[in-house]
Amino acid sequence: MKRKYLNKISKLAIVLTIASFTSCKEEGGMAPEYMPDMYRSPSMETYVDYGELRGKQGNDSIRNSMTARQPVEGTIPRGFQPYPYDNNFDGYELAGQNLKNPLPFTDEVLDEGEELYGMFCVHCHGETGQGDGSLVQREKFPPLPVKFAEGLDISAGKMFHTITYGKGLMGPHASQLTQEERWKLIHYIRIGFMYEEPEEIEDLEEITEEVVAAEVVEEVVEENEH
Ligand code: HEC
Repeated sequence: MKRKYLNKISKLAIVLTIASFTSCKEEGGMAPEYMPDMYRSPSMETYVDYGELRGKQGNDSIRNSMTARQPVEGTIPRGFQPYPYDNNFDGYELAGQNLKNPLPFTDEVLDEGEELYGMFCVHCHGETGQGDGSLVQREKFPPLPVKFAEGLDISAGKMFHTITYGKGLMGPHASQLTQEERWKLIHYIRIGFMYEEPEEIEDLEEITEEVVAAEVVEEVVEENEH
């Protein structure tokens, strides 16, 4: 009785072994997938090509079309403020004429400007803005052609443009600093090193950041219409 039973098991084992050697072929030479739903979820997924569902080419009309759609042209990511001036001489001049510092002049703004200056600018521009930062002193960087001092004839808008795109040997800082941070730095440089009178800036207090952002968006929209 027992032997008969064992006999059956060994027969079954032989059949299974043969099956496992011969059955592992599917079209295209691919191994069969055990529970394909685990690899290719039946629910809609963001980056799946639905023309090729489950390894099989299906509906040609939806091939290479993902569930995720491209954003509409001109879409702006949340929190991003577009900067409408081009990275060239004309853009620099235009920014210089049009842009005004939208931030009120307050001690808090100055303190934050000072902190940012110490993090991003001091190693080139120096503690007092004389272009003698630690990189210059250690001869890792040539002396800067610009000294922040009283009477320096560079408007705030040009400064903003330069910090955004860089100029000469100075690299762009748009990816490291938000627009607001760039304006804080400009207040700090103009008050701290160029001895500009805070009164000159005070009348801009009522210009809120939102107003400036809205103007910028308007300009971009106009530009796109042309
Ligand atoms: C790697 C060195 C380096 C760093 C870091 C650097 N700068 Fe400069 N910066 C320069 C050089 C060089 C120039 C002169 C560019 C020219 O006119 O060719 C310059 C010029 C400027 C000017 C004059 C702009 C103009 O329109 O002529 C401003 C304003 C300025 N930098 C601000 C900053 C601020 C703010 C930071 C920190 C966020 C900073 N820089 C970081 C090297 C640097």
